Amino acid sequence: MTSVRPHDASEEGPRSRAGRLRLDGRIAIVSGGAGGIGQGVAELFVAEGASVMVCDLPESEGKAVAQNLGPTAGYTALDVRDPGQWRNAVEACAAAFGAEPDILVQTAGIMVPGPVDTVDPEQFRTAFEVNVMGTLHGIQAVAPGMRRGGRGAIVVVTSMAGVTFACKSLGPYAASKAAASSLVRTAALDFGGTGIRVNSIVPGQIDTPMSRAAGVPAEFFDQMPIPRSGQPSDIANAALYLASDESSWVTGTDLLVDGGMEAGPVLG
Ligand SMILES: NC(=O)c1ccc[n+]([C@@H]2O[C@H](COP(=O)([O-])OP(=O)(O)OC[C@H]3O[C@@H](n4cnc5c(N)ncnc54)[C@H](O)[C@@H]3O)[C@@H](O)[C@H]2O)c1
Repeated sequence: MTSVRPHDASEEGPRSRAGRLRLDGRIAIVSGGAGGIGQGVAELFVAEGASVMVCDLPESEGKAVAQNLGPTAGYTALDVRDPGQWRNAVEACAAAFGAEPDILVQTAGIMVPGPVDTVDPEQFRTAFEVNVMGTLHGIQAVAPGMRRGGRGAIVVVTSMAGVTFACKSLGPYAASKAAASSLVRTAALDFGGTGIRVNSIVPGQIDTPMSRAAGVPAEFFDQMPIPRSGQPSDIANAALYLASDESSWVTGTDLLVDGGMEAGPVLG
C-alpha cells in the first residue's frame, strides 16, 4: 500500500519556503467537487500546487471540472454513503498522483428540510447517511495513509444551521450538521499526536446551487456586518488555511465564515 508522501520542511531553504505555493506537493480529495463550494475548493487547491481528486456523484460535471483544472486533477465517482467508493477514491489518488491523499475536504452534503413533528423519518435518516455517515466513511478511508505518513489535514464543511443556532423547519439538515461538527471535534482528539488535524468550516449563506434552490430573500443580508452573500471562494480560502501548514497548531475547531452573521444583527 502506498503511503502519504513524507514532507520534511527542514529540507527547504528560507528562499524556497517563501516562494513556494501553499499546497505544493500535497494530494487532496475534494468530495462534492463537481460544483458549488467543492468546485471552488478544487480550483484554489490546484492553483496552490496540490494534486486534486474531484469526487462527486454527477460524472459529466465532475469530469468537466477536473479536465478544466489540468493534469494535476482527476475525477473519481463517489457516493459518500459507500465506504467501498471512498476506498476507490483513495486508491485512485495513489494511482494518479503517486501517493494517498494527505488532505481531505469533505464538502459533499445535502439539504433536507422538514418540521420535526411531521418530517418523514426516512428523510431524516437520509440526511444523516450523507452528512454524518458520509463524513465518517471519508475520515476512515483517508486515515490509514495519513497515519502511515504521519500527517494529514481533514476539513469538513458543516453549516451554521445546527452548529451555531437552531433553524425552523430544517430539522434533518441542522441535526445532521450538528452531528458532523461533533464528529470533527471528537476525531481531532482521537487523532491527537498522530499529525492528523481535523477541523470544520461553518459557512453562512454561500451563493451556490444549494442556496439558490432554498431561495434566500435579499433582505436576509441587510442585517449582516458584511451585507452580501458569501462566495465559494470565501470558503475555499478558509479550507486552504486549514489544509495548509499555516494552521499546524489548529485542530478540533469550527471556523465560522459567515459575513459576521454569528456576531449578531446590525441594528439601527
Ligand atoms: N451554500 C450554502 O449556503 C451553504 C451553507 C452552509 C453549509 N453548506 C454546506 O456546504 C457544502 C457544499 O454545499 P454547496 O452549497 O456547494 O451545495 P451544492 O449542492 O452545490 O454541492 C453539494 C455537492 O455535494 C454532492 N453530493 C450530494 N450528495 C452526495 C453523495 N451522496 N455523495 C457524493 N456527493 C454528494 C452534490 O453532487 C454536490 O456537488 C454542503 O455540505 C452544504 O451543506 C452550504
